[in-house]
Amino acid sequence: MGNQISANDRIIVALDRSPFSENLPLLDMLQGRARWVKIGLRSILVEGPGILEKPNERGYKIFLDLKLHDIPSTVASSLENLMPYGFDMVTLHVAGGRGMLKACREVVDSSEDSRKPLLLGVTVLTSLDHTDIRDFGVMYSVAGHVKRLAEVAQQSGCDGVVASGGEVKIIRGACGDDFKIVTPGIRPGGQDDPFSDQRRVMSPREAVELGSDLLVIGRPIHGADDPVKAFDNIVAEIESDQD
Ligand code: C5P
Repeated sequence: MGNQISANDRIIVALDRSPFSENLPLLDMLQGRARWVKIGLRSILVEGPGILEKPNERGYKIFLDLKLHDIPSTVASSLENLMPYGFDMVTLHVAGGRGMLKACREVVDSSEDSRKPLLLGVTVLTSLDHTDIRDFGVMYSVAGHVKRLAEVAQQSGCDGVVASGGEVKIIRGACGDDFKIVTPGIRPGGQDDPFSDQRRVMSPREAVELGSDLLVIGRPIHGADDPVKAFDNIVAEIESDQD
């Protein structure tokens, strides 16, 4: 499915500035260019879901990266109460279990709202390594565990997963072409990470070639002197390799 998505529609611009109002100039600059924005836990916790109105009134699709994880009824009810604010994709920890994931699927499927968010599983956080997962009693490699959790996500009704560039291929192979893969840790032009806090980075072109559908990109856009130019350059970089 990957190549059918236009390059503009593949980029999710992370709105990581705080307070949220500091993201408004970027929303205005990229309106009509970028399709997706990402809003994270901090903004929702501190400022409330009412902030979704800002990207919504400008016509953006919203990726709500909340990484929900609790007992099924709590997560399902939270999702149900959030849906009226309007968003298009939300993250759930696969470690919450099949019951939690299925309860969320049920909430979305039974909603009368026509705007139904995609459910994305979070497998193993990229801040964790093999020592961390061994502490939890997991004897697989990180990649092996990611693959298992992606399969659980798919079997439990998730539409896709969030995955680092290094995990895309194994998940695509295990879960097929229709499973959405959203990838952060993207650095344009294959440059080294100037922010040096991402463990594994990949260029937009490489991630798309490996099979990622959507790319989460923050500082290379909102931290650029000219965010519009930075966005356009990333689009050009993706398109140049889709020929
Ligand atoms: O590094 P950059 O500014 O492009 O990050 C964009 C967004 O992706 C941030 O909101 C960050 O929290 C998120 N993210 C990430 N790496 C992960 C998971 C999420 O950078 N492994």
